[in-house]
Amino acid sequence: MPQANGKPGRDCPLCPRLAAFRKTWRANEPTWFNAPVPSFGPREARVLIVGLAPGLQGANRTGRPFTGDYAGVLLYETLKHYRFARGQYGAHPDDGLELTDCRITNAVRCVPPENKPTTAEIATCRDFLKATIAEMPKLRALVALGKIAHDSVVTTFGAKKSATPFKHGGRHALGEFNLFSSYHCSRYNTNTGVLTPEMFRDVFANVRRYLDSGSRP
Ligand code: URA
Repeated sequence: MPQANGKPGRDCPLCPRLAAFRKTWRANEPTWFNAPVPSFGPREARVLIVGLAPGLQGANRTGRPFTGDYAGVLLYETLKHYRFARGQYGAHPDDGLELTDCRITNAVRCVPPENKPTTAEIATCRDFLKATIAEMPKLRALVALGKIAHDSVVTTFGAKKSATPFKHGGRHALGEFNLFSSYHCSRYNTNTGVLTPEMFRDVFANVRRYLDSGSRP
């Protein structure tokens, strides 16, 4: 259950495995963030990007989604290209990078061992995803990075996964919102060619076109 403000506290106990992992890394690396990573970007944004979970040495270390790990390089470069970010991405939270009309969150807020949250952890953390969506008055589009984020968003809206399957480049109406989906911009996916920078840009080009057209689902 979310805390009163819909955000996990620094010592959120809801997922015992993740809390134990966090404790280990607080001992190993006391200067790291090592806590549930908050969303980044303005609540008034029209776009919410949903990632998987903080990377151990990325968001879990720096405290900002996709910051300090490989996935962030392609993500922030692409966001800048489509005017969803401005400034310089410097891989640390005080680099001055700003998100414009866009916000980033994760399906799971705490770093999971081997980057793999369990089904129960994804379900538990969904309450925070729901609260994040609910606090965005101008939201029009969600962008899911990877199937886990896609499915969690679909479940959040009470839609059927079979009627709303994940597909790279796919788009679905979810109530008054549009969900755009992409392969995750992980190092693995980009190194193996599953996701090319062009494929990733195409997703955000579609989002930009959708917002600029002013159309509703
Ligand atoms: N960093 C994040 O914050 N989320 C991801 O999904 C991957 C890296």
